[in-house]
Parts: sequence; structure tokens; C-alpha cells
Amino acid sequence: DAGAGDEDDNVIVPGTAPGFEPFQMNVDGELVGFDIDLLEAVVAETDYELGDWEELEFDSLQPALENGNIDVIAAAMTITEERQESIAFSEPYYSADQSVLVQTGGDVQAEELEDLEGLEVGAQSGTTGEGIVDEELGDAVDYTSYDNYVLAVEELERGTLDAIVIDEPVGDSFAGDRDVEVAFTFETGEEYGFAIRQGEEEIQDALSEGIEAVEESGEYDEITQEWFGE
Ligand code: ARG
Repeated sequence: DAGAGDEDDNVIVPGTAPGFEPFQMNVDGELVGFDIDLLEAVVAETDYELGDWEELEFDSLQPALENGNIDVIAAAMTITEERQESIAFSEPYYSADQSVLVQTGGDVQAEELEDLEGLEVGAQSGTTGEGIVDEELGDAVDYTSYDNYVLAVEELERGTLDAIVIDEPVGDSFAGDRDVEVAFTFETGEEYGFAIRQGEEEIQDALSEGIEAVEESGEYDEITQEWFGE
């Protein structure tokens, strides 16, 4: 291996998609969030070093990983069988369900997905939320795909969109600081993992062991406390 001993071999370049609070967002021009702190803590447990963060749209992350522009995705990305056909994941680091958000005090009354039939519904392009709308509601709703959930939340606030489907912890966060509220939550049992290319077993094992190490050291709880106040 000609590269052995070359320090660059140990640098892994992380990619994320901000606008997904509190997992990754820009605050005063700085990239911050649960996933940012967690991946940094996890990599500090390994022999790897983290390169500079690349910020992309969510649906550009997987192609960027596959073509080698980034080496790891930390973007609250759910481990799914479909994604595992082309990329690999670390052990899970967070569990989440989905919520439906509506305008605070608006006229949309919804308690289950079927109640969204006939309405204008949005989600972020390439997300599991988008997949659920497609599978469960299909043509029964007027669907719009957004590059970023922040854009969808703004349309909800303006009343130009009826509802969005979004990961529950992120929906709770937007409901806390925007004019939107959680209409209902439904169980999906999703688990987030750090994504890597297939065949990168060394990085995969290092990340999984790093997750375990930060869970055992109490650092995982500290990071959770910082971003979720739990
Ligand atoms: N957990 C969902 C998924 O994997 C949504 C992730 C969106 N992440 C983001 N950084 N915008 O599809």
C-alpha cells in the first residue's frame, strides 16, 4: 500500500445538510448541531481525523459519498434497506419517528395520514418523509418536494402549504421556534447512522466502536443534553 504512512489516508471528509435542527444547522454562519458534535467526538475515539465539513443538499449527499467527494455522511440519515443497496452505515446512533407539522392555529385538522388527503403536502427531497408521503398517500395529495425543510416550514407559516412530514425531533424543534405546530406523530422506528461507502469496513468499524465508546464515556449523554436539554 503506497499510501501507508501518509497522514492524508487517515483524514475522512464529513458531509452534512444543514437546516435540520438540532442535528445540523447554521447559527451565525457556523455549522453546529448534535450530529456535528457527535461525529467529532466519535472520530476523536478513532485513529482517523476529520477533514473540513462539506455542506450540501440532503439529496446530494449520497452521490457525493459514492463519488468520493466526501467520506462520511452525518445528516440524521435513516438506515434503510434501499440505501444499503448502494452505501453502508455505522451502528445506529439515534432513534426517531415522523411527525406532521401544520400552521399554528391554522385550519388544517389532522390526526392521521389519511386526513391529509386532498391537501398540499411537502417534505424534503430524498428523505424518508418524502418516501412515506409517496407510499401512503401518492396521488391523494398535492405533493411538493423541497430542497430544504426550512423552505417548507416557511411556506407552512405563510399558509401556502398545508402540512409537512418530517422527523419527529426536528418537527419538535421547528414547532418550538416557528409558527408551526405538531398535528400528530406516527411511529416509523427509524434509526440514524453515519453513512460510508460500501467496502470501507475499517472506517465502518471505527465509527461503530467510536459510537460505543462515547456512549460508555458519558459524552453521548452530554451532547444529547446540550442539544435536546434532556
Ligand atoms: N431521517 C430522514 C432521512 O434519512 C431525514 C434526514 C434529513 N436530513 C437533513 N440533514 N436534512 O431521510
